Amino acid sequence: MLLGSTGSIGTQAIDIVRRNPERFRVVAVGAGGGNVEQLATQALELGVEAVGVAKASAAQDLQLAFYAEASRRGYATGDFRIPKILAGPDAMTELAEWPGAGGRDGADVTVLNGVVGSLGLAPTLAALRAGRTLALANKESLVAGGPLVKAAMTRPGQIVPVDSEHSALAQCLRGGSAGEVRRLVLTASGGAFRGRRREELTDVTPEQALAHPTWNMGPVVTINTATLVNKGLEVIEAHELFGIGYESIEVMVHPQSVIHSMVEFVDGSTIAQASPPDMRLPIALALGWPDRVADAAPAVDWTRAHTWEFAPLDDAAFPAVRLAKEAGAAGRCRPAVYNAANEECVAAFVAGRLPFLGMVETLERVLDEAPDFAEPGTVEDVLAAEAWARSHAQRIIGEGD
Ligand SMILES: NC(=O)c1ccc[n+]([C@@H]2O[C@H](COP(=O)([O-])OP(=O)(O)OC[C@H]3O[C@@H](n4cnc5c(N)ncnc54)[C@H](OP(=O)(O)O)[C@@H]3O)[C@@H](O)[C@H]2O)c1
Repeated sequence: MLLGSTGSIGTQAIDIVRRNPERFRVVAVGAGGGNVEQLATQALELGVEAVGVAKASAAQDLQLAFYAEASRRGYATGDFRIPKILAGPDAMTELAEWPGAGGRDGADVTVLNGVVGSLGLAPTLAALRAGRTLALANKESLVAGGPLVKAAMTRPGQIVPVDSEHSALAQCLRGGSAGEVRRLVLTASGGAFRGRRREELTDVTPEQALAHPTWNMGPVVTINTATLVNKGLEVIEAHELFGIGYESIEVMVHPQSVIHSMVEFVDGSTIAQASPPDMRLPIALALGWPDRVADAAPAVDWTRAHTWEFAPLDDAAFPAVRLAKEAGAAGRCRPAVYNAANEECVAAFVAGRLPFLGMVETLERVLDEAPDFAEPGTVEDVLAAEAWARSHAQRIIGEGD
């Protein structure tokens, strides 16, 4: 099942499936509904059983897009079957639970969650409760609902990370036992404004923030990379996935994005994972986990000279990682507040209502002024904390209008 199939992660996952037809079969695809033509094209090409759109009003357009795509392919009526269409806010959750192909189920069926934002939480929980393997790109679901996600797991190792850093960590962690791990080191490209001091970030525009030097990602993720909020979310994700304390998770800036992360062991040894920046490698590994998929992406060219640089993060210019660690260590829905407030800030920045530095400043104020939420016991608890964070962020953003 591919959730978020029209996005950056989803389309790269389809590329892997297309090149490995003997190994993978897609049973269902789903997306928001912003691009029904692409969704219909994917569904017909992959021959899926079901297709979902989160926007209920997009169902009819999707139906029409199937006929248009079939006609473009020269299919006669009767030559093709329109898959079952699921529409509405619960469509991704229904897809996550969709019966497996040919009676296969449980760990044999992988749900790739590549939707963007914390609305990915419900499908994440549904996939886990159904006993499926969850290839998780949607880090926001783990950040917002960490305790719920853990409670929904039916077996250890059920979540396989798609994020390149966490995929790297999972690979490096194969190199020692849990008790031998001293610290995790996440690498960060540094985003579009790497190396700039805080005072050099006052006037940067959304267009500049959207120009990422090494990775090609969706717009929200790219802006989160420029503010380093994305790295903050990844630190929380690493803590939730691998159970390592925040004091033992470091972030290093590595502009070349070739070392995707490292694990330091108690004997002083550090194991790193290296590959040119290409998400198809971690996506393929997550789909095939624990086995590798041959030729998923090009390897480092070891016949050429390379220079790899590493530098500590400038906390004054990019305080988002420190804020994430504080929110993560405090728990009690603060990670959900961090993520939801940030989503509002990014939307306001793109709309020209907030300057670049205003995003993390607003985030910090929302966290400072947050009430003392309890640890989430239900999705509703998470949604309530998020709703508070969104409206409080809006109020602060509104003060500047
Ligand atoms: N891109 C990367 O390199 C990368 C790397 C690591 C982790 N991630 C993570 O992967 C996730 C996806 O990132 P992305 O870059 O692929 O984002 P993206 O290109 O913006 O794609 C987002 C996908 O989510 C779908 N979507 C939007 N609203 C939805 C809704 N209400 N319900 C269901 N689906 C909805 C979109 O569908 P429409 O096309 O219909 O809008 C699209 O398929 C994020 O959590 C991100 O942090 C991404």
